[in-house]
Amino acid sequence: EKGGYDYFMLKEIAEQPKAVADTLLGRIDPAGSLTLDEVRISPSELREIDKVVIVACGTAFHAGLIAKYAIEHWTRIPCEVELASEFRYRDPILDVQSLVIAISQSGETMDTLMALRHAREQGSKVLAICNTNGSTIPRESDAVLYTHAGPEVAVASTKAFLTQLVACYLVALYLGQVRGTKWGDEIRDVVRELSRISVEVERVLRTMEPVRALARTLAAKNTVLFLGRHVGYPVALEGALKLKELAYMHAEGFAAGELKHGPIALIEEDLPVVVVVPSPRGRSVLHDKIVSNIQEIRARGARTIVIAEEGDEAVVPYADHLIRIPATPTLLQPLVATVPLQVFACELATARGNEVDQPRNLAKSVTVE
Ligand code: F6R
Repeated sequence: EKGGYDYFMLKEIAEQPKAVADTLLGRIDPAGSLTLDEVRISPSELREIDKVVIVACGTAFHAGLIAKYAIEHWTRIPCEVELASEFRYRDPILDVQSLVIAISQSGETMDTLMALRHAREQGSKVLAICNTNGSTIPRESDAVLYTHAGPEVAVASTKAFLTQLVACYLVALYLGQVRGTKWGDEIRDVVRELSRISVEVERVLRTMEPVRALARTLAAKNTVLFLGRHVGYPVALEGALKLKELAYMHAEGFAAGELKHGPIALIEEDLPVVVVVPSPRGRSVLHDKIVSNIQEIRARGARTIVIAEEGDEAVVPYADHLIRIPATPTLLQPLVATVPLQVFACELATARGNEVDQPRNLAKSVTVE
């Protein structure tokens, strides 16, 4: 049932191009506009929304953090992202004009369920992004957009995460479309790129052998840091979470701009630091800033593991290890940048003799608060 792979996680990482394509299937019409039949919140209601609040846990929360960049950029609706476990305990400001998006692979996560119940009690509409048909979270929501990742067996979430991102982009683009936005042309371009993205994910998967080899050399390390900016920041958080869960290593993700406000004190000789570099095209100011960060940490002895777009030559002099990813529109980069981090964590766990599919102390579906 593992389809020839040693672990479900490896199988599920390999299934990502299909999972992404399946989640897009039938949702973009030939003219390039979005059809989301399962979103049973009417376009007129969606036009009334004045705030989006995303609630989720763990990896799904990281998908939500990325969604915020997309939703605010394409729709200009303010978007908050909150850990579901924190949400209802702080008396959040919600009303009928708030759209709450609950993201959950299992659809059974108690924290997320309690957060959405709280939102509905305040009169807010709830849209679930979920991978499990008929599970509790979509049943209790006003609308659902299913991710089509297929069953995810490994405890560490991989293909579900990529499909959550796709679903979030679809929601953001759809909201932009129904409300009308000055980014109409950009939305059309992104829809086109999104419909091609599974091919790029496939391409990344074919180049992962050096990432595995690198991971094996780090098996005796205690700490790995991850840096990113813009949508690369949640990607860094996700890379760190995967490493904690699977390799039981101390791993932390930081926004690269925060380095000088504290974390740079952690940098020491030979400390592995993974850096997710934004595209040199898109938001090029950020690209240049992160290149300076890489220089700074390398000057302090860090071993830099740089994830950068093909053709980005500026990073080459400062990368001890360079992992190439295909060029994508800035907001879509997490779909390709996360994959090497999943492979990295999986290989490190294996090298350390850990149980990849069933990490200690964790359960696939967390049905208690
Ligand atoms: C990470 C992981 C967890 C889940 C979290 C939410 O690899 O698996 O962090 O993402 O427990 O679970 P769902 O998405 O089922 O609500």
